[in-house]
Amino acid sequence: MKKENNNSPEQHNSTEKSRRDFLQTVGVGSVLAGLAGLGFQSLRSLVPNVLYESSQRFKIGTPAQLPEGVTFLEEKRLYVFKEGKSFYAISASCTHLGCTVKYTKLNQPKEVEENGEKKTINHEFHCPCHGSKYYADGTNYAGPAPRPLLWHKLELSPDDGQLIVDLGEEVEQNFRLTV
Ligand code: FES
Repeated sequence: MKKENNNSPEQHNSTEKSRRDFLQTVGVGSVLAGLAGLGFQSLRSLVPNVLYESSQRFKIGTPAQLPEGVTFLEEKRLYVFKEGKSFYAISASCTHLGCTVKYTKLNQPKEVEENGEKKTINHEFHCPCHGSKYYADGTNYAGPAPRPLLWHKLELSPDDGQLIVDLGEEVEQNFRLTV
């Protein structure tokens, strides 16, 4: 059965007008939303992409203030060594799953090969979690640790002569800062 259109011509025109108005509104809205998006992106491009995280570089005092031998910076999980005028820093983060490795004094000195050189060591690093062991230079030799412990860069601050540790910068195992 054919459906009759009972609308009067005025009603029909009014419906058409409403539809046109609606479509116009939607169209204008989309354009405005697009422009707003572009505007946001332009403004965003003016803001530098900076990661606001705690600094990887920090001062740990002057060379004279640091005691001879090893100092453990618990918060930073870092071992800093002073051997006379030489300084170096080894991460305490186990390369297996990140537990804190313990500086372990050996009962007897031990002959090992570090970096192709025979050396006598008096300490090692042992991980309490799954038994990984590292020589004094951080080379892994037992347990599941896949890599040596990381070494981090040390430098002297030109302002006040303090040692600066840079956790963001890795260095080789033969790195020494000599002051
Ligand atoms: S986290 Fe150190 S051995 Fe597993």
